[in-house]
Amino acid sequence: MFLDRIPATPGGAVDPVAAERGKLLFASAGCVGCHNGDLFTNLTLQDVGKGGRFKVPSLLGVGARAPYMHDGSALTLADRFGPAGGDLHGQTAQLNPAQIADLITYLESL
Ligand code: HEC
Repeated sequence: MFLDRIPATPGGAVDPVAAERGKLLFASAGCVGCHNGDLFTNLTLQDVGKGGRFKVPSLLGVGARAPYMHDGSALTLADRFGPAGGDLHGQTAQLNPAQIADLITYLESL
């Protein structure tokens, strides 16, 4: 059937409670400093530890467009918070695995 072929849409099929927790973490981890406004980008060039200054990308629909970062070094959203993520890219070192999962759920809802 036609509908079966439509891929999962951003905003669909995510746990809304986890996404809400993730939204709070997105603010408290400082993500909104760069990823803000309707498109989740302030359209500036920033050094987030990826070897130079790169334009802050929009995060709309981000869950569906891996790999991430200008060099594709993060294969999944989870990788963004691993060694490929770096310390300059939001304050994520203090987050526990459950919080990172909530943050990813929120990102997948955008
Ligand atoms: C200092 C500004 C800044 C902050 C703060 C920031 N980001 Fe980013 N973000 C960037 C830039 C610049 C890139 C692109 C880097 C590249 O292309 O290598 C990026 C890329 C990303 C990507 C990959 C998007 C893609 O399409 O490749 C995700 C996901 C992301 N950021 C999530 C977050 C989250 C979650 C936080 C908070 C923990 C955060 N960012 C905090 C500037 C920032």
